[in-house]
Amino acid sequence: MTTVAVIGALNEEVALIAQSLEGVEHDRGASLDVFRGTLVTNAGPTVNVAATVGGMGLVNAAATAQRLIDAYHPDAVIFSGIAGNLNRDLHVNDVVLGGTLRYLDTDMRLVGQWKPGTEDAPVEEFHSDPHLLALADAALNDAGIHHITGIIASGNYFVDTPEKVSEVTLATGADAVEMEGAAVAHVAARNDVPALVIRALSDNADTDYEVFKEFDISEYANTAARLVTDILRRM
Ligand code: ADE
Repeated sequence: MTTVAVIGALNEEVALIAQSLEGVEHDRGASLDVFRGTLVTNAGPTVNVAATVGGMGLVNAAATAQRLIDAYHPDAVIFSGIAGNLNRDLHVNDVVLGGTLRYLDTDMRLVGQWKPGTEDAPVEEFHSDPHLLALADAALNDAGIHHITGIIASGNYFVDTPEKVSEVTLATGADAVEMEGAAVAHVAARNDVPALVIRALSDNADTDYEVFKEFDISEYANTAARLVTDILRRM
């Protein structure tokens, strides 16, 4: 049976995804609270789902992805969260699918040796899986949500000034900036597990984090949970 690991940004989002699952059980370990259950796909077969909140930043994302891969041996890892918009043609609430994931503050001559034994073939970037991207694209089309498959930059800081925006844009050419996607795609690649990174745009990378963290993003949690569940049903 297909198993999918889901890493969400918000407790509320993961709790809503869990509501769509049958036979839900909880696993706790490695600082994670994982909801585990099954979901019947549109085509009939059942998928196993393990969903959790991973926490902010590259290390939390990497640790969570590896823990889920070790514990549940998923056939796919889906990361769903919010991001700052860097693309003038996009707006808050649009979605960027991470066709390409780039670190924004990392020397890829070194980290591009992405797993032991790849010294001679370092990489510059990671990618979401084409089949998972196609499922997400179809789900977003059906939901009428404006989206692109683009470049997402990930780093360990919040981008909230014009200086940081130009720095990130120059270094990565990204459409959106966040703090986890590249790490999840990197860990998934190390384990040969297909990954999908989905980002709803929550801000235009011009809002101080102290102000941003007071934003009400509960509506986002609903949309994201529905979207992830829809993608799972298409598997
Ligand atoms: N997540 C959401 N908005 C962000 C931003 N502006 N910078 C980094 N991560 C984000």
